[in-house]
Amino acid sequence: MTGQSSGESPIFGDDFRTIFSDLIAWRRDVRHFRTDPIPPEVIADCLALADLAPSVGNSQPWRWINVSQPDLRAKVKAAFTEANNAAAKIYDGDQAALYARLKLEGIDAAPVQFAVFCEESCPQGNGLGRQTMPEMLRYSTVCSIHTFWLAARARGIGMGWISIVDPAAITETFGVPSSWTLIGYLCVGYPAEDHIVPELERRHWQHRTPNEERFRKQAFK
Ligand SMILES: Cc1cc2nc3c(=O)[nH]c(=O)nc-3n(C[C@H](O)[C@H](O)[C@H](O)COP(=O)(O)O)c2cc1C
Repeated sequence: MTGQSSGESPIFGDDFRTIFSDLIAWRRDVRHFRTDPIPPEVIADCLALADLAPSVGNSQPWRWINVSQPDLRAKVKAAFTEANNAAAKIYDGDQAALYARLKLEGIDAAPVQFAVFCEESCPQGNGLGRQTMPEMLRYSTVCSIHTFWLAARARGIGMGWISIVDPAAITETFGVPSSWTLIGYLCVGYPAEDHIVPELERRHWQHRTPNEERFRKQAFK
C-alpha cells in the first residue's frame, strides 16, 4: 500500500511531480458530501499513511478516534451549532449575513468521522525536541492530519476540518484522558463536487492573496 515494499528509494519523475502538484492544488476542505460508504480498507490505507507523518522526536502523538455512533455525532453537531452561533455574533451587517450562509461542517452526511487528539504527555520520543516548544506535539498531530488529507484526496475522498467547537465539550463527549488535546474533528467522504477554488473563496468570504506577502526575502535585521 505504501509503495515501500521493494526497499529501494523510488524515483519521483516529472509525471509524478505534475500529479503531485495537482493533488495539492485540488485538495479542498469539503463540507458537501455524498453519503455512500467508503470501503474500510481505503480508510485504513489513509490512516497508515497518516501514521507515517513527521513528528517531534518521532513521538507520533496523534490519537485518532473513529466516530461511528450516531449519538456521539449528534453531540458533536450540537457542540458545533452552539459554537457557531456564538461565533456568528462577532460579525455585523453584510458580513454577518454572509457568515450565516456559509456551510462550515458536513457532519450530517459524512460517512466517516474522526476526532483527532494530541497526547500531550506522550512518552514516545523521550522528550526530544519539545523542551522549549512543547506545542511541537500539536504541530506533529497536524502533520498527521494533513498527510491523511492528501492521502484521502488521492483516492477521490474529501475531508473537512471542523474547529468551531468548544474543545472541552468534545473531550467530555469522548471521555478521553485529560492529557489529550483536541486538534480537529474531521468529516470524511466522497465530495458532492470537486473544485480547484476553496469554498470560502467561491462564497466571497476570503480570497487567497499573493504569496510575496508571506515569503520574505530577508530577515528584519
Ligand atoms: C486548522 C484548520 C481548521 C479549520 N476549521 C474549519 C472549520 O471549522 N470549518 C470549516 O468549514 N473549515 C475549516 N477549515 C478549512 C479552511 O476554511 C480551509 O482550509 C480554507 O478555507 C482553504 O480552503 P481549502 O482547504 O479548500 O484550500 C479549517 C482548516 C484548518 C487548516
